[in-house]
Amino acid sequence: MRIPFIDLKPAIEEARPLWESRLSEMFERGQFILGEQVAGFEAEFARAMGARYAVGTGTGTAALELCLRAAGVTERRMEVITTPLTAPFTGLAIRAAGASPRFADVNPETLLLDVDDTARRATRRTAALMPVHLYGRPCELDRWRDLAKQLGAVLVQDACQAHGALYRGRPLAAWSQYVAYSFYPTKNLGALGDAGAVVTGSARIRRRLAMLRDGGRAGGHVSRLAGVNSRLDEMQACYLRAFLTYLPEWNRQRQRLAALYDEALRDCPGVRLLDRTGSVHHLYVIRVRSREKLRRYLASHGIGTAVHYPVPLHLQPAFQDCGARRGDLPVAERACREVISLPLYPHLPEQAAAEVAGRIRDFYLRGRC
Ligand SMILES: Cc1ncc(COP(=O)(O)O)c(C=O)c1O
Repeated sequence: MRIPFIDLKPAIEEARPLWESRLSEMFERGQFILGEQVAGFEAEFARAMGARYAVGTGTGTAALELCLRAAGVTERRMEVITTPLTAPFTGLAIRAAGASPRFADVNPETLLLDVDDTARRATRRTAALMPVHLYGRPCELDRWRDLAKQLGAVLVQDACQAHGALYRGRPLAAWSQYVAYSFYPTKNLGALGDAGAVVTGSARIRRRLAMLRDGGRAGGHVSRLAGVNSRLDEMQACYLRAFLTYLPEWNRQRQRLAALYDEALRDCPGVRLLDRTGSVHHLYVIRVRSREKLRRYLASHGIGTAVHYPVPLHLQPAFQDCGARRGDLPVAERACREVISLPLYPHLPEQAAAEVAGRIRDFYLRGRC
């Protein structure tokens, strides 16, 4: 059986009647930028995320950047502490806002940005904290909120991998005024192209974000703020409204598959499972011995895998000036050598997940490593 790392087609097909009808509405109306589809999606997404407001943006990266701009974290002397174990876009968004990325290490058990290490590395220049709900697992938001308060820093949540996640039973938006989402096509809620959004509980911040994404304008042709051009497209909003209807069900399917993997791999030598408390299972990631050999073995059986992420941000050329060198963030550096992402998407048959787990067990138990 060939098992690709991801296959979006079944989900797109399942939602086809809904997005076709939204597209017809859009063509009928003939408005393609900031029209009724975007407004409709913003209202529906805010409700689904347990927030008052949502503001659609062109990408998740722009959503993060605009959070910092809205909070006034736009100067080079202002530092934003984030995790080295994330997509480079997290750090690039900080740069795009005009601030300076700084990195703290991740927690050895969860691989999420470590609150204590962040507190140790924070300085008077720390203007914002940007924890990432990595692989769909929520960070400890009560502790992050307290630390941000103590430092007088803004708490911006990178929820680009965590659509629908709750922390201690409460929505992410209950813990800070800035929560940024990506709708990159492979996300739990994905567009068919680039898209993103910020959710917030503040009407003032919502107004500011809406201006910032649209050239700093509040309608008309006068730019009142140094904004950007990063609006959510009407067409992407059509797809997103359709897929949002399925998000709870698709997240449940992810949950079932993750539980199946956990059960099958729990006692497998060479494999360490991650804590998945509260996860919406964007990615199913484990830590393994001899990762590259395992990937080759799985590929030889038609099984696709990926690595999120192979190089920590502080060791990437774009972040060389951020004050951390090899050896400074040892937990993240080691994790980058060990993590592997297994196929996981709502329409993956359970039998396929069982096959993947079985091959991994074979690899370690039959000494193929
Ligand atoms: C954790 C994280 N942050 C930021 C981003 C950037 O989102 P986008 O690709 O929509 O700009 C992504 C997605 O790639 C992500 O996974």
